[in-house]
Amino acid sequence: MDRFELMKARHSVRRYLDKPLSAEAVGALNEEIAACNEESGLHIQLVTNEPEAFQAEKPEYGKIRGCRNYLALVGPKGVDERIGYFGEKVVLKAQELGVNSCWVALTYKKGKADVRVAPGEKLYMVIALGYGETQGSPRKSKSAAEVSDCREGDPEWYHAGIEAALLAPTAVNQQKFRFERNGEKVKAKAGLGFYSKVDLGIVKYHFELGAEKDGGVWE
Ligand SMILES: Cc1cc2nc3c(=O)[nH]c(=O)nc-3n(C[C@H](O)[C@H](O)[C@H](O)COP(=O)(O)O)c2cc1C
Repeated sequence: MDRFELMKARHSVRRYLDKPLSAEAVGALNEEIAACNEESGLHIQLVTNEPEAFQAEKPEYGKIRGCRNYLALVGPKGVDERIGYFGEKVVLKAQELGVNSCWVALTYKKGKADVRVAPGEKLYMVIALGYGETQGSPRKSKSAAEVSDCREGDPEWYHAGIEAALLAPTAVNQQKFRFERNGEKVKAKAGLGFYSKVDLGIVKYHFELGAEKDGGVWE
């Protein structure tokens, strides 16, 4: 699957089938997580077969049903953006493996799961993982002009980066981020909102993937 097909195929999925993750998916996810943790200093953990995590009743916002697997996003305090960036990297790996997902800041209960949080670390949030009843569906999106200074005649990579960022999940679909280009460099800013720093990391990962740039693109 090409990178845009992959990003377009990902939607938040909140109802899951009663079907365990395949051994192949678990192996590939753990490999990706280990690489992310190594690079970032985060302590992301995959929890499988834990049916209690999403039982909390919060009907007003995205109750997750039937999900037994999740990523616990653990890391040192004050690294929200990094949590977003690497969490989304694992989300897109999952999508590639046919595993659906949903970022979950609310409605999660630790239950009996053995999530390890070392002194000085915290559990930021989780990402539900599993095989969805459906693949989810596209939602409303802001336009490129609403989230950036892009104009006709800008380099193709800049347009591609913004298009990719608009496909990224953000808390309550707020899309409160902004990109501004200065030659080959881009400034990315988080707006005010819940979890907007986590969102910023998520959209920066998408931008890099869409633009085919690495972290050197950021001003
Ligand atoms: C940081 C963050 C926290 C989120 N928290 C929740 C949540 O607690 N419950 C939920 O149902 N969805 C949650 N979401 C999913 C968003 O509602 C969803 O990404 C957004 O509506 C866009 O839809 P899409 O992911 O299908 O593109 C969260 C997303 C992000 C990025």
